[in-house]
Order: sequence, then C-alpha cells, then structure tokens
Amino acid sequence: MAHVPVLLKEVIDYLNPQANENFIDATVGEGGHTAAILERNKPKGKVLGIEMDLELYQKLKSCMAEFPISNFQFSNRLILVNDSYINLKKIVEKNHFKPVHGILFDLGMCSWHLEASRRGFSYLKDEPLDMRFNPKNSLTAAEIINFWDIEKIEKILKEFGEERYARRISLAIKEMRKKEKIIGTHQLVDILKRVLPKNYDKKRMHFATRTFQALRITVNNELQIIENGIKQAIKILEPGGKITVISFHSLEDRIVKNLFREKAKIKELSILTKKPISPCSEEIRNNPRSRSAKLRAAEKL
Ligand SMILES: C[S@@+](CC[C@H](N)C(=O)[O-])C[C@H]1O[C@@H](n2cnc3c(N)ncnc32)[C@H](O)[C@@H]1O
Repeated sequence: MAHVPVLLKEVIDYLNPQANENFIDATVGEGGHTAAILERNKPKGKVLGIEMDLELYQKLKSCMAEFPISNFQFSNRLILVNDSYINLKKIVEKNHFKPVHGILFDLGMCSWHLEASRRGFSYLKDEPLDMRFNPKNSLTAAEIINFWDIEKIEKILKEFGEERYARRISLAIKEMRKKEKIIGTHQLVDILKRVLPKNYDKKRMHFATRTFQALRITVNNELQIIENGIKQAIKILEPGGKITVISFHSLEDRIVKNLFREKAKIKELSILTKKPISPCSEEIRNNPRSRSAKLRAAEKL
C-alpha cells in the first residue's frame, strides 16, 4: 500500500511553512509530511528529519531519487539523521540547524512497520515477536513474553494496553511458556483467541490490538520519551514557531495535552487546538489507519 501521511492538510495548516523557513520532522518515517513541508519552504528552507529505525532511514535515503520532492533540489534541503528524538537538542546542535520555525512529532509506527518490516508489529502476519524500532536495543517482545515475571506482564498490559483482561492473558502466557517458547506473533494471537471473550470489543478493535500495543510501547520505551522530546522541541523553537503532535492512542494524547497545558500556564506556549483535531470521515474512509489519530498544535510565545 502506498504511504499516506495522516492529517497532512491539518499539519501543514498549523505549521504554515513559508519560503526559506526551517522545520524539524522528529519522526520522519516514510517522509510524507516532510515532502509536503519541503514543497512549501523552497527555495532555501530546510527540513531536519529524524528516524530511529535504521532500515526505514536507509530506505528513505536510497529512494530519495524517487522522492516526490526531487524536483525541488531537496538533497541539500533535507538532512536525515538516524537517531531518536530523545537526543533532539544534541542533533540540532551537531547539525547547526537554526532558526527552527516548526516541529512535527507523528508518534508511533509507520504503515511500513506493519506491512513490510517483518518484525512482528502486526497481529495479522505470522512473524517473530520482535517489535523494536531500533534493532540495536536488546529488549524484544519475545523477551518480555518468555522471560518477564507474570505480574510485570500483567502491569504493562493494563498500563500500556488498557487491557481489562490483563490477568487472564498473563496467566495463559505463564501456562503456555511452560510447554513451549513463544516466539511468533500467531502463537500469541492463538493464546489471546483462547482466553478472550468471543466478539470482545469487536466493533471497536481486533482482540489482539491492546496486547500488541502494550508490547510495542514497552519494547520502544515510547511513553517515557514523549514528554522529554517535546520539552526539548519547545526550547529549540523560535518565538512564534509552531509545534504539532499527532498521537494514536489516549495514553500518548494525555501526555501531550497535559504538557501543552502546563507550558501554556507559564506562558511558554499558546495552545492552538482547544480540542484535538481528528481526521474527517473522508480521510478515515481512504485511510482507515488514521481513525485513531489526534493532532494537537501550539505556538511558542
Ligand atoms: C507514524 S510514523 C511517521 C510517518 C511520517 N510522518 C510520514 O509521513 O511518513 C512514526 C515514525 O517515527 C519513528 N520513531 C518512533 N520513535 C522514534 C524516536 N524516538 N525517534 C525518532 N523516530 C522515531 C518510527 O520508526 C516511525 O517511522
């Protein structure tokens, strides 16, 4: 499936890139938002794009020739860095990237992770239980499932998956791992199928969604770094610069909402989105994966 950036029009409306301004895409992914920014900030505006996943970063580098922005001599306008946005300040300093007029965080994983990474992000594919954005990190989903204390597994399922059957699932994992090592996604899906009620939340989501989300968040330490990354971004922005954050579940959105409010109270930010912006029904129809996206935007004072 071709990559479709989520809430693209809305992100561009809030960032409002002008000729020769500089932007940071803290989660460049497949480059959809970056491409749109580079079309707007030509001829001399730049984008610093950060991507933690080495394979995705390499893919982006190598397909630059086919990149939709190739008409605009992007090569000297797009700086790609393979790192985590947790190191945002250092990355910006190292690349002497200033002034910065806008920053985007589009949190979580890409369609590519689900469809082509072969790292077990999707419950629909039978793949190794890996789920790392950065394969240099040692913690995998299989490590958690096979070796963590059952109480700890229950806790992450509750906290990061908001899974009401966390206890039931963790006990079933305990029983299964006495018999065999759980190394593949479908082994886990089979366990979930056995212990979860039939038609569990069927209208809203697949029964494995919460467990897979909890594992991915834990493996990549996702929630712990959002606040820190956004705080660095606010410091880096020029006064009048915009910060936009797209989140995909309530745990992420809550962190962004609370941080924006805290910074608005001390007059560091002015909040531009009283309520988070969701995709319109047409976008959801064309790109069902966008349905849980929420965009918040603020301006640096
Ligand atoms: C939702 S996708 C971004 C999609 C992108 N906006 C586009 O249009 O293609 C999020 C990306 O952020 C990357 N990512 C996740 N955590 C990261 C981190 N801490 N630092 C940098 N990139 C990260 C993921 O590997 C993924 O490619």
